[in-house]
Amino acid sequence: MLILGIETSCDETAAAIVDGDRHILADVVLSQIDVHRPYGGIVPEVAARAHLENADLMVAEAMKQAGISFAQLDAVAATGGPGLIGGVMVGVMTAKAIALAAQKPFLAVNHLEGHALTARLTDDIAFPYLLLLASGGHCQLLAVLGVGDYRRLGTTIDDAVGEAFDKAAKMIGLGYPGGPQIQAWAAKGDAARFILPRPMKGKPGCDFSFSGLKNAVRLLVESLPKPLSDQDIADVAAGFQAAVAQSMADRTRRAIELFTRQWPQGKHLVVAGGVAANSALRAELTNLAAKAGLTFIAPPLKLCTDNAAMIAWAGVERFRLGLVDGLDFAPRPRWPL
Ligand code: KG4
Ligand code: ZN
Repeated sequence: MLILGIETSCDETAAAIVDGDRHILADVVLSQIDVHRPYGGIVPEVAARAHLENADLMVAEAMKQAGISFAQLDAVAATGGPGLIGGVMVGVMTAKAIALAAQKPFLAVNHLEGHALTARLTDDIAFPYLLLLASGGHCQLLAVLGVGDYRRLGTTIDDAVGEAFDKAAKMIGLGYPGGPQIQAWAAKGDAARFILPRPMKGKPGCDFSFSGLKNAVRLLVESLPKPLSDQDIADVAAGFQAAVAQSMADRTRRAIELFTRQWPQGKHLVVAGGVAANSALRAELTNLAAKAGLTFIAPPLKLCTDNAAMIAWAGVERFRLGLVDGLDFAPRPRWPL
């Protein structure tokens, strides 16, 4: 089986080809980070235009790398939402056009389902498993029970965790995207100098919150002499990163309790999303999984951040079950799993 996947829901224009035996034949990603950097964040209209300029080029490149023709595909999958609607429209229309011209089925994939199923592409694990999805747009804990069968155990009540990293970075004068910079500065800092709140820690349920922490960073930065010294920047970054990691660990620990009680046959804790790159968070999760007797799975970073291989793979899983979509599918800016 050969499926072409297209991802355009945020700021990566991506195309990939995956087969039914979990081989990635091609996986190309064009990041728009440089396009958006001058604005300090993603500008939806600018993103949509860049997707329009590049989507067909990415598809052509992926087809070339895989050395196949459209006629050899079994189906064409694209992210159908949730995401920035201009970009989603570009990806969906590109996939529909190829599907129509090549007479192949079209699959609209939920972007979150793409993240949720990635661990079955990289590690061939069985359902059910517990997923922490931590990205710039999402922060959720999901019990992944089967294709199309997800139980949300917790979500953020305000900002996504990656968004919190990006905003905190901006407040201490670091560039966009902020997560990797916070991590780099935190490595040189003292996490014990500024103790910031651990949002939601000890509260019932598994929801996240980051707006209070963000505000605490703002007040802390306001109280420090300007311009901030390198040591101050490093110490704030370290304090912030520790607060995020511990808050997320607390929420995940509760979700593990819930998950293992309700689905005792589950064996894995999986992480996805760009924030999965964060080493402080990974350390906490590795520890939690070990304590609970779960295997911790972190797919390679390239497959944790937005990519089209995860969309093609979700396409494989859905196509096997006959879950194809019509060409009348309408892109969905909001689409809860
Ligand atoms: O999954 P992703 O590539 O895009 C979506 O948002 O869907 O995630 C990007 C987010 C950004 O907010 C970025 O700052 C964050 O992931 N990020 C990190 C790290 N690397 C990327 N956050 C913390 N630590 C990192 N090392
Ligand atoms: Zn994503």
